[in-house]
Amino acid sequence: MPSPLADRYRDRLPLGDATPVVSLGEGSTPLLPAPRLSERLGVELWLKWEGSNPTGSFKDRGMTVAVSMALEEGAEAVVCASTGNTAASAAAYAARAGIPAVILQPAGAVALGKVAQARALGARLLEVRGSFEDALDAARELARRGTHALVNSLNPYRLEGQKTAAFELADDLGGPPDVLALPYGGGGNTRAYALGFEELGAGRPRLVAGEAAGRAETVATAIRIAEPTHRAEAEEAIAASGGAVVPLSDEEILAAWRDLAHLEGVFCEPASAAGVAALAKERPEPGARVVGVITGHGLKDPEAATRLSPPPVAVDPDPDAIAEAAS
Ligand code: F0G
Repeated sequence: MPSPLADRYRDRLPLGDATPVVSLGEGSTPLLPAPRLSERLGVELWLKWEGSNPTGSFKDRGMTVAVSMALEEGAEAVVCASTGNTAASAAAYAARAGIPAVILQPAGAVALGKVAQARALGARLLEVRGSFEDALDAARELARRGTHALVNSLNPYRLEGQKTAAFELADDLGGPPDVLALPYGGGGNTRAYALGFEELGAGRPRLVAGEAAGRAETVATAIRIAEPTHRAEAEEAIAASGGAVVPLSDEEILAAWRDLAHLEGVFCEPASAAGVAALAKERPEPGARVVGVITGHGLKDPEAATRLSPPPVAVDPDPDAIAEAAS
């Protein structure tokens, strides 16, 4: 099966010649200039548009590798706990591989688009009465029994796949950016970028990680995580880069979410705006080359989008009425 990500970076991935690569065409995502936000921030800002991955989030980079390796190692099913995007990605790659996916999600806390995706893709979707952490503990227990391969980012193949985003950035820009801003949930993606830049050996960007100040309670449901799984390693990488973890209110996250849509035409889910939101507080030096990682598509969370945006105005099909209503 042709795989853009594996074909481009196979020598840096754990995939062997015999690995049955499970691909949906992930990776090689656009790096978009952001002229209006650049001007406002006084920097050269680029947006790594990860919402253009096959299931609409960056998770696909890691999932292609994790599910391929699981198949090679003889797994008959996969399991994950998720705030929604890992679930949608696991469901898609498991379907592509022809094996079942068991998804554990915190009850009532996952955005509609992601639930719809996992259901449509035929996953066994279980709502755990508890938090994301409770669901993750349960997924790990099940995986320990040997019947299901765990495809959360505790699976090292996930981070291996996700680090390819750092390679793409260095390829597209001719080297690492000065600053990399991204959302911080469990910290797996922060670790993956740090790993990617370290492997390249061409210098590393300052890592600016935007987290929801409320963590367990935030409009950014994708990062509604009280206890980051990768906290120690992620925060060590951030500190070593001279960067910072930036706590953000929901208002700050949503202001960046709106700016990305209105000023740059990039419609992401709220959590995905946390990196760019962090840049407004942890201002990079003027003129710095900055990449904001936009992790997931806006259609993932249609409820947030409709709740937070003006409703359409009803009009008669009459040009005068329309001209007036449109002004
Ligand atoms: N952005 C989005 C859209 C996410 O879905 C996630 C994590 C993150 C950022 C944070 O990445 O955890 O590597 O620091 N989503 C996970 C999930 C938890 O289950 O889909 P992180």
